[in-house]
Amino acid sequence: MRKIEALQVLKNTIGKAYCPYSGFPVAALVEGENGEYATGVNVENSSFGLTICAERSAMFNFIINGYKNPIRVFLYAPTEEFTTPCGACRQVLSEFNPNMEIVIFNKEEDFKTFKLSTLLPECFSGENLKGKL
Ligand code: THU
Repeated sequence: MRKIEALQVLKNTIGKAYCPYSGFPVAALVEGENGEYATGVNVENSSFGLTICAERSAMFNFIINGYKNPIRVFLYAPTEEFTTPCGACRQVLSEFNPNMEIVIFNKEEDFKTFKLSTLLPECFSGENLKGKL
């Protein structure tokens, strides 16, 4: 998916973020190997720890839609800094493809690209459980 198209989808989606406590909206788009995609936003809760980030809601939405083999996540938060995925989201994304590409847009619509394996090196995975359960 072209970056300009992904950014447009993210900008159309970010208004759905439910973030009354932080006032910090985030939108994410998970892209599959055949161009299929699912979006997500952060959904907060008055019991703060129950909040779900945009990356996880997009990833779960992708799976719920029956899609497989995610290759890339686009992220958008209208901040000056590039908002990188939190540790929990890195772990959840890595379940489905530890080599995913992460493309992050900031408020200026500049972008920065990372490999998930760089953001989460030596991660725990299903491999660690082989023969142990
Ligand atoms: N958040 C995300 O959705 N993704 C990130 O990458 C960082 C943080 C959300 C969680 C919470 O609703 C708000 O941003 C402030 O932490």
